[in-house]
Amino acid sequence: MSSIDYSEKIPNNVNLSEDRTLQRALEQWQPNYLRWWDDMGPDGSQSFDVYLRTAVSVDPQGWAQFGHVKMPDYRWGIFLNPTEKDRRIHFGDHRGEAAWQDVPGEHRANLRRIIVTQGDTEPASVEQQRHLGLTCPSQYDLRNLFQVNVEEGRHLWAMVYLLHKYFGRDGREEGEALLERRSGNQDNPRILQAFNEKTPDWLSFFMFTYFTDRDGKFQLCALAESSFDPLARTTKFMLTEEAHHMFVGESGVSRVIQRTCQVMNELKTDDPAKLRAAGVIDLPTIQRYLNFHFSVTIDLFGADQSSNAAIFYSTGLKGRFEEGKRNDDHVLKGQHYKVLEVQGGQLVEKEVPMLNALNEVLRDDYIKDSVGGVERWNKVIEKAGIPFRLKVPHKAFHRNIGTLSGVKVSPDGRVVHDHEWNQNVEQWLPGDEDRAFVASLMGRIVEPGKFAHWIAPPMMGINRQPVDFEYVRFN
Ligand SMILES: [Fe+2]
Ligand SMILES: [Fe+2]
Repeated sequence: MSSIDYSEKIPNNVNLSEDRTLQRALEQWQPNYLRWWDDMGPDGSQSFDVYLRTAVSVDPQGWAQFGHVKMPDYRWGIFLNPTEKDRRIHFGDHRGEAAWQDVPGEHRANLRRIIVTQGDTEPASVEQQRHLGLTCPSQYDLRNLFQVNVEEGRHLWAMVYLLHKYFGRDGREEGEALLERRSGNQDNPRILQAFNEKTPDWLSFFMFTYFTDRDGKFQLCALAESSFDPLARTTKFMLTEEAHHMFVGESGVSRVIQRTCQVMNELKTDDPAKLRAAGVIDLPTIQRYLNFHFSVTIDLFGADQSSNAAIFYSTGLKGRFEEGKRNDDHVLKGQHYKVLEVQGGQLVEKEVPMLNALNEVLRDDYIKDSVGGVERWNKVIEKAGIPFRLKVPHKAFHRNIGTLSGVKVSPDGRVVHDHEWNQNVEQWLPGDEDRAFVASLMGRIVEPGKFAHWIAPPMMGINRQPVDFEYVRFN
């Protein structure tokens, strides 16, 4: 089960050749996928040989192989973690029953919706990142961008496989629609708003892979608990790939900060104007980008109170983060959780039934996890001896979903009037001027071992290769 058959048109470890109908359907989808990749995949990259990792097994030890590949020839395939013997449902109303190997009729619509919503984010991020290759700060970074892109493409395959195999004609139609929606398109946008935002520069890209790919991690972790076993096994393997995306984000932002701090110390200044003139991104601008990406991403967890979240949990479709490690009854009836609301011009906590607050539970787990990397960024600043600290904004800041949407809250968690908001928003969120400045730094650096002025080189290369390795051959 764990070995992958690469002799087939669609590499897989699901014995695809034994199900002719499914194989044919996916082989018909494949050229449409490749057309989408040609149209919406990384701009101008078709003839490059890129040092990519490809999954060759689902064995946690040594699952990937590295080598130069032309991206359109990347072997996108279908890889599920091995079946766990006698796996049981471990939360919700069906707790203790055998996990489902097929989709129960009564949960079909909800499962389809969950899979389509997850699937839609994968091609969306490729579309958002499609022009970044033109302004890469180094070959090393270009390679990492392309690695993220091909794996998001594979994540789309992972979801389309489930749709084709378990949802019949509806599933095939959804598979087509996933190739038709476009990030940011007015008439046919991607499903979730954060995936319709632009990723116009590399600071945005690093913030996106740190914060928004981490949302991916949390959604995948919740789905890895699912009673629908094929979904659990698919998402478990996707998580293996996801870890690298967040590494790209965390190390990318860290290197930007490192370079800025170095120039701050050289010039002995914290004046943003002087630092900008010296060609690095001042820390307050980095904070504003952080505020933006954090707030847009925590909206992805959905409304703080949601009857759908309760249904998804109780019916066993979607668990909590690390459901198996928690010591409660895993049914949650009669339990409560605190969510925020505004009363008399102040944020106050309110107890609500936990089942309805499961989006908030997942959001709070995500926030705890996000803070870790921000603290590691602060270590870089601290080590440079600079008295500035980055901070994730209050979770009520700049929200567009749930009770807190429509309330103006400062990054430190005070409800403010429109007037105060308007006066300070330029300190809190990146404005046109910030974005124009960051854009002005973006230029294409592709000589092996060279790096743009605004970012420090990484500590080490990919797969133990040197930093100045030829990660991309442009031909
Ligand atoms: Fe993904
Ligand atoms: Fe990702």
